[in-house]
Amino acid sequence: MTNVIINGANGKMGQAAVNAISNDNALTLVAELDKDDSLDQALSTYSADVVVDLTHPSCVYDNVKTILNASCHAVVGTTGLTDEQLHECGEIASQQNKSLLVCPNFAIAAILMMRFAEQAAKFMDRCEIIEYHHDKKADSPSGTAIKTADLISQAQPSINTPPLDETEIIKGSRGGNKHTIPIHSLRLPGIVANQDIIFGSQGQTLTIKHDTISRDAFMPGLLMAIKATHLHKGLVYGLENLLD
Ligand SMILES: NC(=O)c1ccc[n+]([C@@H]2O[C@H](COP(=O)([O-])OP(=O)(O)OC[C@H]3O[C@@H](n4cnc5c(N)ncnc54)[C@H](OP(=O)(O)O)[C@@H]3O)[C@@H](O)[C@H]2O)c1
Repeated sequence: MTNVIINGANGKMGQAAVNAISNDNALTLVAELDKDDSLDQALSTYSADVVVDLTHPSCVYDNVKTILNASCHAVVGTTGLTDEQLHECGEIASQQNKSLLVCPNFAIAAILMMRFAEQAAKFMDRCEIIEYHHDKKADSPSGTAIKTADLISQAQPSINTPPLDETEIIKGSRGGNKHTIPIHSLRLPGIVANQDIIFGSQGQTLTIKHDTISRDAFMPGLLMAIKATHLHKGLVYGLENLLD
């Protein structure tokens, strides 16, 4: 039996995670923490194997260090960790002999979307990403969009070269760039999380599209990550690394 703490348990993802973990016979939910609780104190009170962080980009870095330094595995769904912070936290995880599973997207179909995009990138000239989220999302672009751009760029470093000869009349209208790939972030009520990856080549386009209809979409991947913690040491970035 694996003992789990959820940090951010009152949030939209946290509530879905509380339900999913409570209904899984292999997991025991030992504590539900939120903003007014002390993570430090909870880690010394409850004997947790894994802490799931579903909080806010402003606190996730400190949370992850606290979790790992208390010698627990960390499963992180919260977005906003920089590459440097990921590296540093990965080092702490390795030193502690614990796993740090950071998953910008727990939805299995979103992982497939990224895989298909890596394949398409090798054959297409240009690519842009549009990601759509609810209007309460704190950060942009989404962690999934950043990760998608990373994977496309690794698969095809020359994508979107040469740069277009263009003038931005309104600053920001061509989106933000990760590597050479423009990312456009929409924030609207009524949306959970969607993403379109649009490729263009001479005379043709290809759109790879993923729509999240409810937060239930994230739960099988989250449970898979929690159960995989004991198999890994150090940083694992992306659920796709657990699927092979
Ligand atoms: N990996 C994935 O598949 C995936 C999917 C969806 C969302 N996300 C990410 O998961 C995170 C949570 O999303 P959400 O939609 O559930 O947000 P949310 O509804 O705002 O929930 C976040 C919860 O964390 C609490 N919180 C804030 N600061 C905290 C702290 N220092 N310690 C403990 N709890 C704290 C919030 O409290 P207050 O409301 O009082 O501030 C809130 O209850 C975001 O970063 C989001 O981008 C990831």
